[in-house]
Amino acid sequence: MGKYAKVIATPNIAVIKYWGKRNEKLMLPTNSSLSFTMDETLKTQTEIQFDAALKEDSLILDGTRLAGKEFEGVAKVLAYVREKYGQTPKAKITSKNHFPTAAGLASSASGYAALAVSINAALKLDLDGSELSIIARLGSGSASRSVYGGFVEWQKGSKQDGSDSIAVQIANENHWPKLRNVIAIVDQEKKKVSSRAGMAETVATSKLFKERLEFMDQRVEKMKKHVLDRDFESFANLAMLDSDNMHACMADTTPRIVYLNDVSRKIMTNVRSLNDKETICGYTFDAGPNAHLYTLEKNVPAIQKMLSKIAGVREILVCKVGNGPRILEKG
Ligand code: PMV
Repeated sequence: MGKYAKVIATPNIAVIKYWGKRNEKLMLPTNSSLSFTMDETLKTQTEIQFDAALKEDSLILDGTRLAGKEFEGVAKVLAYVREKYGQTPKAKITSKNHFPTAAGLASSASGYAALAVSINAALKLDLDGSELSIIARLGSGSASRSVYGGFVEWQKGSKQDGSDSIAVQIANENHWPKLRNVIAIVDQEKKKVSSRAGMAETVATSKLFKERLEFMDQRVEKMKKHVLDRDFESFANLAMLDSDNMHACMADTTPRIVYLNDVSRKIMTNVRSLNDKETICGYTFDAGPNAHLYTLEKNVPAIQKMLSKIAGVREILVCKVGNGPRILEKG
């Protein structure tokens, strides 16, 4: 076939959040972040074919051809690759998300990680993880962390050109086999503010956010230690603190940004009650109302039971730490 690849990638869930860019075009963040990549409970499968017979680049996502704004991220990624690694034929990209329908779970991280890895495989560029994370980042910041499995830090970097704003694996997928992410999919309306627009408004208007940036370097270092020590209690409490702080900065934005709803708040209250005697669960929320609850394998049934009693929780998924993108075919 020539210049072809088929790849699977999975989303990641941040325990120290990325919210805010210092450079919009290069997608450079204001702070480093830390996540773990999830297993294939949720996944994106992408096929790419570079072919001289094609007249233009195209992307078909879940059966629909994307154009205009929706194609911008992919166009940016392809332009970067061509500028850096030489002209290539046009590309036909076909991508499918295996996510519960209308769950409101972000698929951009797995989508752009799959794209970066498939370009590398199809063009036989032999790029390392750092460079793959830069390519994925140009489509979606959080995607930079999904090019690796296990626990991953996205280092903010300091260079203007973004060459040191890269993802680094801090522990692999076998490091903490008992860790789980129990996802509660919650009833919701369509997301009102995109994360891109929301973060730009937070950076521009929130005083609380300026304060957040003062302790983020220290917080990432602390979290790395909790992960390496497999210290669940410290890990869960710091993850909750950071999620609360990010959502507080959103609330401190003008105009105010609110992604959580009453079901999300009920889940947070119930997690606090569950943790009354001992911390068995932590929560984190991205730019939406779905809850990601960290726990250890033995406590999954208690979390499922707690969630199943909450009206408005539509579906519960249980994910392990995953091993990152997988190349299914290349040629
Ligand atoms: O998916 P992006 O790159 O638009 O960023 C969203 C960032 C959060 O999901 C809210 C937090 C994170 O670190 O993933």
